[in-house]
Amino acid sequence: MNYRELGKTGWKVSEVSFGAWAVGGTWGPVDDQQSLEAMHRAVDLGVNFFDTADVYGDGRSERLIKQLKSDRSETIYVATKAGRRLNPHVADGYNAANLTGFIERSLTNLSTDCLDLVQLHCPPTDVYYRPEVFEAMEKLVEDGKIRYYGVSVERCEEALKAMEYPNVQSIQIIFNIFRQRPASLVLKEAKARRVGILARLPLSSGMLGGKMTRDSKFDSDDHRAFNREGAAFDKGETFSGVPFEVGLEAVEEIRPLVPAGMTMSQLALKWILMFDAVTCAIPGAKRVDQADLNFSISELPAIDVVTMRKLRELYYGKLAPFVHQRW
Ligand SMILES: NC(=O)c1ccc[n+]([C@@H]2O[C@H](COP(=O)([O-])OP(=O)(O)OC[C@H]3O[C@@H](n4cnc5c(N)ncnc54)[C@H](OP(=O)(O)O)[C@@H]3O)[C@@H](O)[C@H]2O)c1
Repeated sequence: MNYRELGKTGWKVSEVSFGAWAVGGTWGPVDDQQSLEAMHRAVDLGVNFFDTADVYGDGRSERLIKQLKSDRSETIYVATKAGRRLNPHVADGYNAANLTGFIERSLTNLSTDCLDLVQLHCPPTDVYYRPEVFEAMEKLVEDGKIRYYGVSVERCEEALKAMEYPNVQSIQIIFNIFRQRPASLVLKEAKARRVGILARLPLSSGMLGGKMTRDSKFDSDDHRAFNREGAAFDKGETFSGVPFEVGLEAVEEIRPLVPAGMTMSQLALKWILMFDAVTCAIPGAKRVDQADLNFSISELPAIDVVTMRKLRELYYGKLAPFVHQRW
């Protein structure tokens, strides 16, 4: 495992870190024992950073991480999120009282007195133009409730705005072969300002595993069934906002580009790590076999320039029309 610096925190985090949404819920049935086995395997492979949120399984994901931490002696950094418990989810809800309440709850779920990193959880765009929200986060740092804070964003412009707050340590954004827009301005600015980048949806909701077909079925409680048109949250969070059939066609174009000795999922993860402004990709894993595939890619060779060019052309030719101007 290789490690990269996260913003100005001084932490060196695994370049492939663990996305703990799926182990919490909304991705079909999960078995806590199986999830913990996958999480242990990730730590065995050198993962020292877990991304979660208070709403993943209504605290289930945070509680699994608490369990993992109590079972292991290694240093494990945890990034959680706050804001999505708001109902309605509106900018006014991002105030000191609500944020403090959410953070108290995460402190209990994770059984700690100070959270490592708290990200505002894809707040409405207006929140980025309310310095009082970031002042509230500063106060939580002063009070010793959180060590650092960052943001999880939907849009590139939100990332650029968030970076103007000097103590924002990390930006979490959708960045994968199907969503290449951050590769230009966002990554350049993040690097210049030493802000960490957590690349989420690295496998585009599993599609870049290369095993889905037109006939793939998803359980009714799996967002890949119920959120394709954005019924529950931003539609970009499901298959990156690329229509399912278009995604399948793109996967067939990627298949011949997969280097010998790699799976398509590994190519997809390695592609993200080719950008040095990225701190880590954060794939999930519900099972040990997925953990083995996802958290072993540091050892694999870099992707050659010709393949990188072809993947860029694929994006601009086939995928950008669906996503580039939306996020
Ligand atoms: N708004 C936000 O802040 C936000 C939103 C989304 C995600 N995130 C974070 O980003 C992380 C990554 O997000 P994600 O949406 O891409 O989901 P993910 O957590 O990477 O989960 C992807 C799913 O893909 C499948 N999968 C995993 N490894 C695979 C492999 N090697 N080959 C094929 N399929 C594989 C698994 O599902 P099956 O086995 O069922 O196919 C897995 O549950 C999340 O866990 C979460 O921490 C944050």
